[in-house]
Amino acid sequence: MRKPVIAANWKMFKTTAETSQFLEVFLPLVKGCHDVEILLAPPFTSLAVASEMLKVSGVRLCAQDAFYEKEGAFTGEISVNMIVDCGCSHVILGHSERRQYFKETDEILNKKVRAAIGGGLEVIFCVGETLEERETGKTFDIVGRELEIGLQGADYSKITIAYEPVWAIGTGKTATPGQSQEVHSFIRKKIGELGAVSKETGIIYGGSVKPANIKSLMEEKDIDGALVGGASLDPVSFSQIVKYN
Ligand code: PGA
Repeated sequence: MRKPVIAANWKMFKTTAETSQFLEVFLPLVKGCHDVEILLAPPFTSLAVASEMLKVSGVRLCAQDAFYEKEGAFTGEISVNMIVDCGCSHVILGHSERRQYFKETDEILNKKVRAAIGGGLEVIFCVGETLEERETGKTFDIVGRELEIGLQGADYSKITIAYEPVWAIGTGKTATPGQSQEVHSFIRKKIGELGAVSKETGIIYGGSVKPANIKSLMEEKDIDGALVGGASLDPVSFSQIVKYN
């Protein structure tokens, strides 16, 4: 059975003090939620403070990125080891904002995926099409290519895939449950062909998830959870998403 995963992607929001304030409210609200795997991805600067506060909570810590080299002269980068040292069990890789603004290619992402798994992390690997790609009928080609190259040679048992249509991120436009299910089912088939035990791989949805739409998304058979941006910044709203059932 695939356990539902609900992950918060805070992007470039919250100082250390704001992280503590969030967790002081959020952790009591989700105490006893054992049927969902809860992940929190704060910015790098908040990992240490979050790690300390999450200790006995069952909520797991996730970084938003990691570089593939172990160490060296790479100003501004953070290695897998450093993230593990801060208490992370997971890392998000391939987010469309990294692909778009920081020019991360499928090839670079493949190096990151392998380095992360080699260093003991589990990976939330994001894929998804732009509006133009969807409208010109390229969704499956794009998502298929991102999976094929990005996950080449990777251990699928350490991977959760996040389908995040770029047009739904931060726009308030959620893909309908039917639209998402169609792509999730394509992803499950595709990773099966690429060597995954696809019925065991978590495939989560991201893009304007909120308390009002999480339940209908989770009712789809191939949607195993959510990667939540904007609505994860408020502890009450994120706790409602975690407790969608
Ligand atoms: P959103 O972001 O929930 O604000 O749309 C999701 C994401 O980018 O992971």
